[in-house]
Amino acid sequence: MNFTLSTDAPQQIKADCLIIPLFKDAQPKDPQVKLPAKIAKILTDYVQLGNINDDCGQINWLFDVKECQASRLLVVGLGPIAEFTAEKAVCALQAAASALLQKQYSGAALALEGLACKALDEAQWVQQAALAFKEKAYQFNTFKTKTAAKKPTLKSISFCIDKAHVKSGQKALDYALALAEGMSFVKDLANTPANHCTPSAIAQKAQEMGKKHPKITTTILSVADMKKLGMNAILAVGQGSRHEPKFVIAEYKGGNKSQAPIALVGKGITFDTGGISLKPPATMDEMKYDMCGAATVLGAIQVAASLNLPINIVALAACAENMPGGNAIKPGDIITTLSGQTVEILNTDAEGRLVLCDALSYCARYKPEVILDFATLTGAMVVALGTHTSGFFTDDEALAIALNQAAKNSLDSAWRMPLIASFKDDLKSNFADLANIAPHRWGGAIEAAVFLAQFTEGYRWAHFDIAGTAWTMGANKGATARPLPLLMDYLYQHAYGQS
Ligand code: BES
Ligand code: MN
Ligand code: ZN
Repeated sequence: MNFTLSTDAPQQIKADCLIIPLFKDAQPKDPQVKLPAKIAKILTDYVQLGNINDDCGQINWLFDVKECQASRLLVVGLGPIAEFTAEKAVCALQAAASALLQKQYSGAALALEGLACKALDEAQWVQQAALAFKEKAYQFNTFKTKTAAKKPTLKSISFCIDKAHVKSGQKALDYALALAEGMSFVKDLANTPANHCTPSAIAQKAQEMGKKHPKITTTILSVADMKKLGMNAILAVGQGSRHEPKFVIAEYKGGNKSQAPIALVGKGITFDTGGISLKPPATMDEMKYDMCGAATVLGAIQVAASLNLPINIVALAACAENMPGGNAIKPGDIITTLSGQTVEILNTDAEGRLVLCDALSYCARYKPEVILDFATLTGAMVVALGTHTSGFFTDDEALAIALNQAAKNSLDSAWRMPLIASFKDDLKSNFADLANIAPHRWGGAIEAAVFLAQFTEGYRWAHFDIAGTAWTMGANKGATARPLPLLMDYLYQHAYGQS
C-alpha cells in the first residue's frame, strides 16, 4: 500500500472512494470543521437529516455524488463535536479502514483538511490514519496454505491536507510508516508459533536485521557464553527445553560514541508451559506470546534505524523456552544469578523475572542512561489494569513523566503502578537471598516488579508489564505490537531533546 499526501481539493481526486470523517453535528461554519467546499451542502444536509449518530466509526456509503470525482463516498461518523477525543478519531479511522479494505478497490483518498482540533492536530491525524490502515491491512498467513483470507487490493491512499501542514504531515507520515513496519515485525515474530519461533529463530531474526542496517550490530550469547559469564538464571529457565536459550543483543549506534545508550530489555520466553509448576491447559497456546517483550525491543531497534534517530540504543532479549522435563528446574532449586545474589525458585512458572534479572545485571556493562524492560510478566497485571492499558513501574519521577507523555502522544495507553519497597519482605527465603515468588498472590504484578528492582539498583529504570496488552485473546487472537508506539515516542522525544 502506497501512502501519499495531497493538497488537491478532495472533491477533485479521482479514486474508487473518498473517505470523509464527519461529526454528528457538523456545520460548515464550525471552526473545527472545514468541509470540502463543493460537497459541504450534501454533507450538511446528510447530517441534518440525522444520518450520523453518536457512535464513532459509523459507516455510511454515498453513491452518485456528482460534485465529487471519486466513484463513491465513505462518510465515517466521529460522533458529536463536543465529545470528540483522539481515541474516537482512531476508532473512526480504523472502522473506515476495515470497511474500505473489505472492498476490492485499488485507490482511495481521505479528507483530513480542516479536522485539526485540540484533541488531534493535522500531523496526528495523518499519523493515526496511516497506522489505522496498516493495522487493518495486517495479516499473518505464513501457515495458511489455502488462501482463505482475502488479501487487501488497495494499492494507494492519499491523505488530503492543507498546504500549511504538508511539512509536518510528511514527517508524521514517514514516522508512522517506519513505526508500522516495526509493528509488523513484532507481530510476525510474536504470532509465529513456538515450534518455529525458538530462541535461535529470534537470534536469527536479529542477525538478519543487523545485516540490513549498517548502524545495527548483533551479538548472540550461546549457552557456553552465558555459563562463562555466570548467567545462571536464564540458563536455569531454559535447561528443561530441547531448544537452547539465547541472549540476543542488538545495538543501534545513531549517536556519538561517547553518548550513553538507552538499554531496552525484553522477556523472550518463546513458550511458557510453567515448567514443573505446570500451567492449566486452557489458553496455554497463548503462551507463545511470552516473548513479546523481546520482539518489542528488537522492533524498536529496527524503527530507530529506519528513522535514523541520533541516539544509541542497546536491546537485550533474554530468550528461553520454559518446559518441564528430566532436566528442568524444580521448586526449591537454588541458583546464583549474574548479580551474585542467590534465588530460591519456589515456582518455576515465575520464570520471566529470572531471565530478566540476568539481563538487567548484564546491562551494567553499557553504563546505560536509562533501562526500560518489557515483559509479559504477570497474570496479576491483567487483573489490575485489564487488557487496554500497560502497567509501568519506576521510582524515577522524571522518567515517569516522560513515559506518561509518550503514552499520551502515541495513544498507547499506560498507567504508572507503585513500587512498594515493603513487598520485598514477602520475597524472603529460608535458604537463599531471595525467593522468586511471595507466599500469597496479592499484588502479584508489584511483587514481580519489586523482585526486578533488586537487580537495577543505582540505575534509572522502568519496568513495563505488558501481559494484558501485548496480544488480544479470543476470536481476534493476535499480537498487537504494543507498547512499541509508546516506546518509539519516548525514544523520539529523547533523541530530539524533549525528555
Ligand atoms: N507469562 C506468565 C504471565 C502471564 C500469564 C501473562 C497469563 C499473560 C497471561 C508468567 O510467566 C507467569 O506465569 N506468571 C505467574 C507468576 C506467579 C507464578 C507468581 C502468574 O502470573 O501466574
Ligand atoms: Mn510463567
Ligand atoms: Zn512467562
